[in-house]
Amino acid sequence: MKSSKTKTIGILTSGGDCPGLNAVIRGVAKAAIGRYGINVIGIQDGFRGLVENRTVVLDDKNLSGILTAGGTILGTSRDKPHKMPMGGQKMDMTQVAAENCRKLQLDCLVCLGGGGTQKNALHLHREGGIPVLTLPKTIDNDVAETDICFGFDTAMGIATEAIDRLHTTATSHHRIIICEIMGHNSGWLTLGAGVAGGADVILIPEIPYAIETVAAHLQDRRRTGKRFSIIAVAEGAPSQTMLKQLEKARKDDKKSDLMEGLHEGDTAANLSEELTKFTGFETRLTTLGHVQRGGIPSATDRLLCTLMGTAAAELLAKGTYNVMVALKGDRCVPVPLEDVAGKKRNVPPEHAWIQAARLVGTCMGD
Ligand code: F6P
Repeated sequence: MKSSKTKTIGILTSGGDCPGLNAVIRGVAKAAIGRYGINVIGIQDGFRGLVENRTVVLDDKNLSGILTAGGTILGTSRDKPHKMPMGGQKMDMTQVAAENCRKLQLDCLVCLGGGGTQKNALHLHREGGIPVLTLPKTIDNDVAETDICFGFDTAMGIATEAIDRLHTTATSHHRIIICEIMGHNSGWLTLGAGVAGGADVILIPEIPYAIETVAAHLQDRRRTGKRFSIIAVAEGAPSQTMLKQLEKARKDDKKSDLMEGLHEGDTAANLSEELTKFTGFETRLTTLGHVQRGGIPSATDRLLCTLMGTAAAELLAKGTYNVMVALKGDRCVPVPLEDVAGKKRNVPPEHAWIQAARLVGTCMGD
């Protein structure tokens, strides 16, 4: 029996996975159970599991040994409560999700996810009356109102190592190697890994590139005796020409979102083709893809996840709901979810990482 004072929380992971999800689940649940006496229920496969009422009780046994494990022990999905594919059509399952929260006697639903999850959680609160608390997860690092998202540091490390490895083979073969990096429509991952890995050209969505500028930079490098080049390109980075085409397409069909017009592989494949045409240099393309989201979290992510998770438990104990746990400086603070949902944090054009890249002679494509 649940005593009138015992709180119960549900926790789910939603959207693309990333390293650190288990570390946050552990941080929230261990502190909630051990320090604050809160019951913790795990909800499987994101909002779909909530709608289908698939749950697991989280306790000391299943929380043990998960700090370093990649992925999520709860499973995830990209399903939204209000647009859930059900039997061949998309259904609004918001009220079913809310009703299941009530049946489980949840005082609050904790949602770990990126931009989409922040929106879905706020929707469930507004339309279903469920108190929620969120944490910012994404390798894209583009959730608003936090200095950093968990998962980003690990992915940046993986992409940096890939660039390191591409350097040796590009040098040996005197080739141009293009490395396509994830990030959806944000350039954080490509910029961070590009600077850390010493890429010669870094192309991000926030700075549309001119193919002529990139080609001229590669030719200059050849002239000065550097016979290889590494290009780090974000999956959503458009050329100035592509941007014009997409803008025109958007005018013709008002519904299509400008940047949603770019898909994985488009940018890099197009770039590779164009560069071969402009320079005649031998070019190869590597798409890092989901490798960037797999495996164990870095030490920095484990630390961040533990800080954020335990801060979340403290807020839950106090009854501070409808907020996202954000990192500001070296502190975890609650920010109103309505200030986060529907917003995005892109790389500012004058960001210190961009300035540093330019100062060491990296071509940003503009
Ligand atoms: O949002 C994280 C992310 O990895 C993006 O960088 C990428 O565009 C997308 O997810 C890939 O999605 P999926 O795992 O559904 O292929």
